[in-house]
Amino acid sequence: MEASVYHETSDYQLEDGIKLLEIICPGLNEKVLDIGCGTGRLSKVISKRVGNGGKVIGVDPDEERIKIAINERKGYNNIQFMVGSDQTFPEDKYDAIVSTDVFHWIKDKEPLFKRIYDNLKPGGKLGFTTFDGNARPDLLIEIFRLCGPKTYEAAMSCVYCDTGQKYKELAAAIGFDVMLLDVKARKNIFPNLDAFIDFFYAVYYGMFDRDDPGLNDLKERYKGQPVPMELQRLTMILTKPLE
Ligand SMILES: C[S@@+](CC[C@H](N)C(=O)[O-])C[C@H]1O[C@@H](n2cnc3c(N)ncnc32)[C@H](O)[C@@H]1O
Repeated sequence: MEASVYHETSDYQLEDGIKLLEIICPGLNEKVLDIGCGTGRLSKVISKRVGNGGKVIGVDPDEERIKIAINERKGYNNIQFMVGSDQTFPEDKYDAIVSTDVFHWIKDKEPLFKRIYDNLKPGGKLGFTTFDGNARPDLLIEIFRLCGPKTYEAAMSCVYCDTGQKYKELAAAIGFDVMLLDVKARKNIFPNLDAFIDFFYAVYYGMFDRDDPGLNDLKERYKGQPVPMELQRLTMILTKPLE
């Protein structure tokens, strides 16, 4: 259920992913890995860029999201979707590895960066989007709190935010050159609270109940109002030096 809601509501992630591709520019015949591909929307855009001679591998640990990706893969013969993670994706030498809105879900960043480095060609690029520090708007934290302590603890302990500076230091320690580190405030306006709740319900794997009675007062307070959100988006592009 949440996977299909994610598929319908993930325009925000897709837009930033497309901007990332415009900078990385995967070219014809290249082999690209999409780590945490979700329902595969960005993988399809990459597929068009690399053409029939190229290959896109999309991995995600969420079986439901991969099911949707596979079901909607028709006509994209150069994509392979599979259940997997940053630590189990197929070993290869990729021209580029992309990952949009995934790294804040991964606790241990050192093995993540190391494995990516080892699986890039010399001169290959890693491009990712995440957040510079805080990945949760205050309103979302309030929603978790209103849904009770169990939900609050579960939802607050599954995201691991790091700053751009921390990512930069880690990348350099592994051997990457930093080609781009861009931090920008990203403003979003949800038409109403339901849209905000649906979006984060999907992002957080259905971890809270959208109809929790604890949310009734909040829903009343926001009735008929748009909901603004602003977070600091981080985009980074790293290159593996030529040998
Ligand atoms: C916010 S979604 C982003 C999905 C997609 N990249 C997009 O831009 O729409 C985060 C994704 O990261 C995946 N994920 C979480 N932990 C992961 C890991 N260790 N390795 C790979 N993907 C992971 C989740 O299953 C989820 O689909």
